[in-house]
Amino acid sequence: MNIAVTGSTGFIGQNLVPELLRKGHKVRVLVRDSSKKIPWEEVEKVQGSFHSPESMKEFVDGIEAIVHCAGAIRAIKMDDFIRGNYTSTKNLVDAINQFKPPVFKKFIYLSSQSAQGPSKELTPRRVEQPPEPVSWYGKSKLMAENYIVNHLEYPYIILRLATVYGPGDRETLRFFKYVKNGIFPMPNGDKYLNMVYVKDVVKFIIAFLEMENLIRNKIYFVSDPEYHSLSEVIESIKSLLGKRTVIKISIPEAIFKPALKLSELAAKISGKPTIANSDKARELSEKYWIGDPTRTFRETGLRTDYNLMEGLFETLQWYKANRWL
Ligand SMILES: NC(=O)c1ccc[n+]([C@@H]2O[C@H](COP(=O)([O-])OP(=O)(O)OC[C@H]3O[C@@H](n4cnc5c(N)ncnc54)[C@H](OP(=O)(O)O)[C@@H]3O)[C@@H](O)[C@H]2O)c1
Repeated sequence: MNIAVTGSTGFIGQNLVPELLRKGHKVRVLVRDSSKKIPWEEVEKVQGSFHSPESMKEFVDGIEAIVHCAGAIRAIKMDDFIRGNYTSTKNLVDAINQFKPPVFKKFIYLSSQSAQGPSKELTPRRVEQPPEPVSWYGKSKLMAENYIVNHLEYPYIILRLATVYGPGDRETLRFFKYVKNGIFPMPNGDKYLNMVYVKDVVKFIIAFLEMENLIRNKIYFVSDPEYHSLSEVIESIKSLLGKRTVIKISIPEAIFKPALKLSELAAKISGKPTIANSDKARELSEKYWIGDPTRTFRETGLRTDYNLMEGLFETLQWYKANRWL
């Protein structure tokens, strides 16, 4: 299949593209002026940007499917989320509608659990429930979803991903570092969350791409079957690292909110987008980041292969081999 991938330089893209190539697909990637170096010889690199549909004409030309991984997780100001998640998706959708690649079959969008929002209690939120994002990041992902649903003239699948971890992920690396150092800061105390290993995310994306009887125009929550407490995640990493004691420090809102505001200010001064901003504070204030993937498994027949311990084990091997830890 001829598949175009945005955001190939990111954590998920870096895991997705080699697997697409290994499975014999032809891959085209979008290269923006700011993109990091594309490490694969055999992919077709197309220069473009998300500024307008016209700037993506060559990118969508003759393509059979698009996996839209690009998105803004880090920001300096709230507007960055709207531009990086909503406007970029809108322009890409408009480009597909405008240039109508003749053999185009499917559009896969990597959305986020943040778009559906947290639960109020220990009952996992279902995709069918009305979304209630609490952050600008989540709102911008939901705006992008809505644009796809209401405007794309071709079949789509929207994957609302739980927290993704695995080789190349710098966010979960922090968890490993905290445990290694023996002190784990927990903003707003313990929480509950869904996680999913990046190889399972890649497996789901490729399965949707290759599916003959196309499941179309659906939104799926992609996660491990089980949700976890943050303490359980810490315990798992602790046992993998052979660490005997880890002190968990609960940080009240009155401390972490101003701290993240300061980090945001530092990002504004340095001009370097950060994940540690006041938008993140809104997400960290929530206790139950739990969703229900049952419908995904039932309707697609797909299952995740990795449980938390297996995924964390492989991730640790990768961190060690690449001297990240
Ligand atoms: N990682 C997770 O835990 C997680 C969870 C849920 C959902 N997601 C979603 O999955 C997608 C991929 O996540 P990831 O972890 O791979 O993210 P990532 O490592 O930050 O990579 C995202 C890629 O998107 C492009 N990009 C960054 N900022 C952008 C902007 N302002 N406008 C347009 N493109 C921009 C960049 O690629 P180029 O410079 O090459 O264009 C970047 O490499 C994102 O849409 C994210 O929202 C991720």
